[in-house]
Amino acid sequence: MILNKNTLILPFTILSLLCSTLFGDDMYKQESLDNGKLIYESTCISCHGAKGETSSAIFLIVKPRKLNKTILSQEQSFKIIKDGAHYWGAHSDIMPTFKYVYNDDEISNVALYISEEFNSHRDKKVLKLLQESDAVSKDEQVKMLSVGEKIFKRNCSTCHGVIGDGKSEYVEKLKVSKDFLFPYNLTRTLLNEDEIFLYAKFGGHYWGTDKNDMPSWQNKYNDFKLKSVAKYVNEKIKKIK
Ligand code: HEC
Ligand code: HEC
Repeated sequence: MILNKNTLILPFTILSLLCSTLFGDDMYKQESLDNGKLIYESTCISCHGAKGETSSAIFLIVKPRKLNKTILSQEQSFKIIKDGAHYWGAHSDIMPTFKYVYNDDEISNVALYISEEFNSHRDKKVLKLLQESDAVSKDEQVKMLSVGEKIFKRNCSTCHGVIGDGKSEYVEKLKVSKDFLFPYNLTRTLLNEDEIFLYAKFGGHYWGTDKNDMPSWQNKYNDFKLKSVAKYVNEKIKKIK
């Protein structure tokens, strides 16, 4: 083969393009992770702990959720960090909004950091739990909303309120006894239908809350019933889609 300018340039161009896509992205990602780590360690660590396991030294009415167990994806975490947990349904605003402190790039870096560093198995875990759950047949599908509504009104509304806004007589009574219970305002939940199902099936503790305030329902209801109530919450209760 005769080597001329073109035969040399072409493979070289391909090689350098390949390098920049492979290593360029890696370098960029490393920079984002480094920046995310810096932000995490200066801002979040005091509440959420060095490995996202929640600092045990901190005394707050609502304990920070464990970021190494959260059901939230990276994009959902981005939203909570940006707007604060109250905006997305939490009763308290102990988890504040960071949109006046950090810009979107910085928030996305810290969301990347906590997802990769503490909770990298999250997507696989959620998928596996969904695959292991019972499928809903065509016949059952048509009944889901009415079955879900019944369960919601019978059980979930005791704490979450009839319209799901987290206000109920039961919760008010507990406040007087100082036995606080802060159900989320489900009209603003970030969770999608599958995640609501998994949250209700396994309960809050499984997904990183310190207490079992939100119980696991898997001994009381089968997957069909829990998927039904999740569908009802997602379609009839949730207001921000
Ligand atoms: C003052 C303590 C405090 C600080 C500082 C704080 N958080 Fe939080 N965070 C909380 C609490 C409390 C919750 C739970 C909210 C609730 O249920 O009311 C929470 C919830 C979260 C959640 C949602 C988890 C879930 O499963 O719903 C994410 C994500 C999160 N925090 C990330 C961060 C990041 C990133 C930072 C730093 C930029 C940070 N937090 C700083 C207290 C804090
Ligand atoms: C005994 C009171 C109680 C009952 C009954 C209850 N919940 Fe909860 N729920 C809570 C509390 C408290 C929280 C917030 C703390 C936590 O997650 O552990 C919560 C959180 C949730 C969340 C997470 C929302 C988010 O954005 O993070 C979902 C979803 C949920 N509940 C659905 C349900 C469904 C569906 C039912 C009925 C099958 C139900 N809950 C019954 C108390 C309750």
